[in-house]
Amino acid sequence: MNTVVLYQSRYGSTKQYAEWIAEELGADIYPADSFPAEKFAWYDTVIFGAPVFGGAVLGIAGIENNLAVLQNKRLIIFTVGLTSPEAEERLSNLAAKNFSAALQKHATFFHLRGALEYQKLSFGHKILLRMIRSSMPNKLDLNQNHVSREAVLPLVAAAGGDFPE
Ligand SMILES: Cc1cc2nc3c(=O)[nH]c(=O)nc-3n(C[C@H](O)[C@H](O)[C@H](O)COP(=O)(O)O)c2cc1C
Repeated sequence: MNTVVLYQSRYGSTKQYAEWIAEELGADIYPADSFPAEKFAWYDTVIFGAPVFGGAVLGIAGIENNLAVLQNKRLIIFTVGLTSPEAEERLSNLAAKNFSAALQKHATFFHLRGALEYQKLSFGHKILLRMIRSSMPNKLDLNQNHVSREAVLPLVAAAGGDFPE
């Protein structure tokens, strides 16, 4: 079984999850932006992880644009954000808004909880976060960290199972 883990990450939490997943599976790992599309041919399973900013999944176009070549592979997408993995309605809205019908049909999705460290945010993200925060009924905590190694285990189990016929 050849597996590759590709990731996008601005502040490190998605990268951390990608590293743990690759370690558990003995998979190759690349930042998505430096992975040449020709290399998809080498793998049976492709795992793509990306953070959510303002309701948008970072860099998902890189997967959407290669769906034809990914069609005969197992495809697992994980998003990372502050949204709780239990908030099912929000997560299905996130999928509906960000993923094409073809991607929703072919891929298996997971959502893992991320982290926030206000001082480390870019200027643009500080402003965006303050806008989002001011529209929330319960004020968002500007410093929080939910990143945990155990959270990757269901994804690892899904990736390590038998290849679907
Ligand atoms: C400006 C901003 C907007 C965000 N918007 C969302 C969002 O819409 N949904 C969500 O679940 N998390 C959101 N987050 C939380 C990030 O997804 C979280 O910080 C994630 O861990 C970042 O991943 P990274 O460390 O790999 O860059 C937002 C964070 C920032 C700074």
